[in-house]
Amino acid sequence: MLIVVAAFAIGAILALVLRGDLGRLVSGFGQSGGRALVGGPFTLTDHTGKRVSETDFAGRYMLVYFGFTYCPDACPAGLQLIGETMERLGAKARQVVPIFITVDPERDTVEQMSAYVANFHPQLVGLTGTLEEITDAARAYRVYFAKVEDDSSGDGYSVDHTSIIYLMDRTGAYVTHFRHGMTSEEMAKRILQHVS
Ligand code: NI
Repeated sequence: MLIVVAAFAIGAILALVLRGDLGRLVSGFGQSGGRALVGGPFTLTDHTGKRVSETDFAGRYMLVYFGFTYCPDACPAGLQLIGETMERLGAKARQVVPIFITVDPERDTVEQMSAYVANFHPQLVGLTGTLEEITDAARAYRVYFAKVEDDSSGDGYSVDHTSIIYLMDRTGAYVTHFRHGMTSEEMAKRILQHVS
């Protein structure tokens, strides 16, 4: 648990440092005026090519996960966990929309995202956009990502990124977050504590 908290904190700190926003970190991590600092507006393109923003998901809970389709292990594991968890939610799954936002818009085109999300869950929404749009969304969710050299990859690069699954409420406000290590049973249980 400590590792989880530490990893989350490090991710959040890195994101804040990148943003040059240490003042907010000092003034109180997590909350600002009673509202969590994680989350916020975004405008992106979904895996069907439609332009969407956070308001398109209002009224439903969101499971938000950032990653990329060429990711060899973390992302497939995270998305598989999300898919299994959605199955466990049964009828309540209709109140939850799982969202996968790419941190590799260069390779993750609409077509690529469309083919990829279908592997994990029929409700999974894939979002891509321009690098600027993706950067804005990642900042809002305090997600760190960075393109790194990787000779083992066909294109010569990989993308380091924070691997946190966020649960956001019907208004888009942060509720809690999950890590890959947990079981879908535990994750579903925790989601059902909020989704009624
Ligand atoms: Ni990944």
